[in-house]
Amino acid sequence: MDTKTLEATARALVAPGKGILAADESGPTIKKRFDKIGVESTEDNRRAYRDLLFATEGIGDCISGVILFDETIRQPSLDGVAFPKVLESQGVIPGIKVDSGAKPLALAASSETVTEGLDGLRDRLAEYHMLGARFAKWRATYTITDVLPSPYAIDVNAHALARYAALCQEAGIVPIVEPEVYMEGDHTIQGSKQVTLAVLESVYRALDDQRIFLPGTLLKPNMVLSGYEATEQAPVGQVADETIDCLRWTVPAAVPGIVFLSGGQSDEDATAHLSAMNQRGPHPWQLSFSYGRALQAAAQQAWRGDPANRAAAQHAFLQRARLNSLARSGEYTPSMEQAA
Ligand code: 13P
Repeated sequence: MDTKTLEATARALVAPGKGILAADESGPTIKKRFDKIGVESTEDNRRAYRDLLFATEGIGDCISGVILFDETIRQPSLDGVAFPKVLESQGVIPGIKVDSGAKPLALAASSETVTEGLDGLRDRLAEYHMLGARFAKWRATYTITDVLPSPYAIDVNAHALARYAALCQEAGIVPIVEPEVYMEGDHTIQGSKQVTLAVLESVYRALDDQRIFLPGTLLKPNMVLSGYEATEQAPVGQVADETIDCLRWTVPAAVPGIVFLSGGQSDEDATAHLSAMNQRGPHPWQLSFSYGRALQAAAQQAWRGDPANRAAAQHAFLQRARLNSLARSGEYTPSMEQAA
């Protein structure tokens, strides 16, 4: 295992002022996003859309890496250059989603899932490395109800995350370990915290069992929030305090960075929460972003599939990236939204 390269890549991904763009929507997910803006999800439209994101001038100042989907890592840009090369020319590190999705857990009494994709992963990682990927992502998901998630679902997902992480490190690829506790539900912020603590404890136990080199990893967790359907919504400061508390209990200081997912929060909330957490620093790890929706929603609305809107969409994307870049050092304030 090339620990030096793994650690250098992980640190570059959480360099000050920078974060990750998650543009690895699977076929069904990108269709859902395109449906919202009245765009058909064809290969050409997906290519045109991702081309506009990756070619945005100046993204290298705020974006350290981009997570790609299998189709995109093999696709040429509109100018005929492979997308990983387009990213490299922007000073951005190409990454790849390697799980094949959360599938129903066999024989479970409830609707719980386990994330699949380990079969053949060693060979796929070797190919992705050849195509330019230097980091990867695997997402496990957990739903909160009165009785879920079960300890069994927590443990099998942690085990799979650790097996994925080991294969990545063997291939010279930094694993982003993503246990996502869904924010949907009517649970309190304390309910979210309790479940997130149990999930992260189990994940770090499994990573330790499988001898993962923590300085060559990143964690991509949910923030600790009130469930979206809860009558009482915790304010920004409380979200920041509870999330940091939860991470301090569970995430070793050897992990260089924590890159949050946005999970369906509004763009403004995702940025404000990150900024508030960084205002409370210094922390043992860098606190950054790996947002999908919270970086792309404004750009998608501006684009709507019309090539004439390309520059407006790039402007919208860059604005969100810049605001989140400011949140990396706690310098974002909501009044900047108007100025943007
Ligand atoms: P969101 O920021 O839209 O939650 O997406 C991040 C991601 O990559 C989920 O796996």
